[in-house]
Amino acid sequence: MATSIIIDTDPGQDDAVALLLALGSPLDVVAITVVAGNVPLNLTVRNALVVCDVARRPEVPVYAGAGGPLEGALVTAEYVHGPTGLDGYELPDPTRQASVGFAPDRIVELVMSHPPGEITLCTLGPLTNVALALRQDPAIAGRLGGIVMMGGGFFEGGNTTPAAEFNIFVDPVAAAEVFRSGIDIVMMPLDVTHKVLSNSARVDAFKQLGNHAGEVVAGWIGFFDRFDREKYGTEGAPLHDPCVIAYLLEPDLFSGRYCNVEIETVSPLTKGMTVVDWWRVTDRPPNAHVMRDVDADGFFALLTRTVGLL
Ligand code: BDR
Ligand code: CA
Repeated sequence: MATSIIIDTDPGQDDAVALLLALGSPLDVVAITVVAGNVPLNLTVRNALVVCDVARRPEVPVYAGAGGPLEGALVTAEYVHGPTGLDGYELPDPTRQASVGFAPDRIVELVMSHPPGEITLCTLGPLTNVALALRQDPAIAGRLGGIVMMGGGFFEGGNTTPAAEFNIFVDPVAAAEVFRSGIDIVMMPLDVTHKVLSNSARVDAFKQLGNHAGEVVAGWIGFFDRFDREKYGTEGAPLHDPCVIAYLLEPDLFSGRYCNVEIETVSPLTKGMTVVDWWRVTDRPPNAHVMRDVDADGFFALLTRTVGLL
């Protein structure tokens, strides 16, 4: 049976590519729940709907969720993703509106109405919706098959502050609650995602697919990668969020270690840091499968092949 997933996301070009990978794959996408992050909520919702249209999957419900973190003001990343969050390819307005319901409520209802372990939550943005769902009904922790998340960084440091990766930095309080929930977590930090870099050959491969989705993905990456090329001097951009979906489809592409992760929520210097006990120097119990390595060629082969099916 195909794995059933809920994707919680803040699209974002790399979120959008992750959505296409999921929608083109055998995974059963039960719902897309949307959170504010890369851009404000009205735009992330719009972008999620636009991506469903690109995938020709208008039946997948899209629910709007939290418009900002549990504490403090929303931090966005237009400097990476452009003013719409999805700059790089001109697309028509979505053909529908978001479905009725608040994303955290729908996460609770969906998880509790499916058999135990059946739904896996894929998180591609700040963890606000997930924390709100956990606050509403902590029983979802025992009912979920697990969470596969993009977030954090340890050997690689942060990308938003020297210590913090964007998704965790935007809502560290939510992240701390999720890491303490007891849910089985697979974490895709910057240490992995900075190894799946686009380059001209990989972007050309999307163009050469000859379908609309391939052209759109090439356009998005072509916009998104200018920021990372300038910042890191690399040939292209990290495709952070698609790592989450790729893990569900081909887990052997990734390797890591089961260890303890705690989230710094207070220090002005390191707020949003994922403190990973990689070397097991504490006796804090392991709570996350922290990935560190990836077969990048295998990842791009999977992604290109799947986008070619759309
Ligand atoms: C994460 O932050 C966002 O900008 C990306 O979509 C990704 O989820 C990378 O730090
Ligand atoms: Ca994201």
